[in-house]
Amino acid sequence: MKVIVKKNYDEVSEIAAQEIVDLVKNKNNAVLGLPTGSTPVGMYKNVVKSYKNGEISFKNITTFNLDEYIGLNKDNDQSYYYFMNNNLFSHIDINRDNINIPNGMADDLENECKRYEEKLKAVGYMDIMYLGIGINGHIGFNEPAEYFEPFTHEVKLEESTIEANSRFFEKVEDVPTSALTMGIKTIFSAKKIILIATGENKADAIAKTVNGKIDPQVPASILQLHRDVTIIVDEAAGSRL
Ligand code: PGA
Repeated sequence: MKVIVKKNYDEVSEIAAQEIVDLVKNKNNAVLGLPTGSTPVGMYKNVVKSYKNGEISFKNITTFNLDEYIGLNKDNDQSYYYFMNNNLFSHIDINRDNINIPNGMADDLENECKRYEEKLKAVGYMDIMYLGIGINGHIGFNEPAEYFEPFTHEVKLEESTIEANSRFFEKVEDVPTSALTMGIKTIFSAKKIILIATGENKADAIAKTVNGKIDPQVPASILQLHRDVTIIVDEAAGSRL
């Protein structure tokens, strides 16, 4: 595991975006795994800037998002579909057919999870998977649990996650209680994984991820087993390393 500590959020966003820009420049048909949340917003802003400067094109790039809430329409401003459109896709030249986000409105959710895995396999898996981390150590919506779930699956969200995400909703009751998420093996199918975290409230989860025992109660700790992981944190999130 490689750990990079940058001064602040802006520097984390810049260096994380640079990895995307470099990959897209070198491999114009790359497959990207993408996260949502407040952490990657700055990273996406920098990526959009590079696109607008004419540095890169996404015409042949394929993306797979990590997760999606169950029960929110695409036009609900809290759905991850909406988030991705708003922060990235509507600003770049990506082919809409190459955008993949689990469909949390599917009638048959189990089937949707299988379809997602098959699609990922068909494109040859991801070149880079980007991750955020929850204060409880979750990656995607792989919540602390008794065991690691390998593949894309339905998950019930933890109280702490619902509470953390309620800041985006009018009231806590509006936060969906379940989601679809890539599993650990799905995430591990990426050639390279980059996890970004900022802020003091992530310091404990980061310390356990990097130096703790591999434990499904701290889902990100399993990243110690992947062969190419880079953790990019600001000084606050890295303060307990
Ligand atoms: P955040 O979410 O970037 O909004 O802190 C990260 C996560 O929960 O994975």
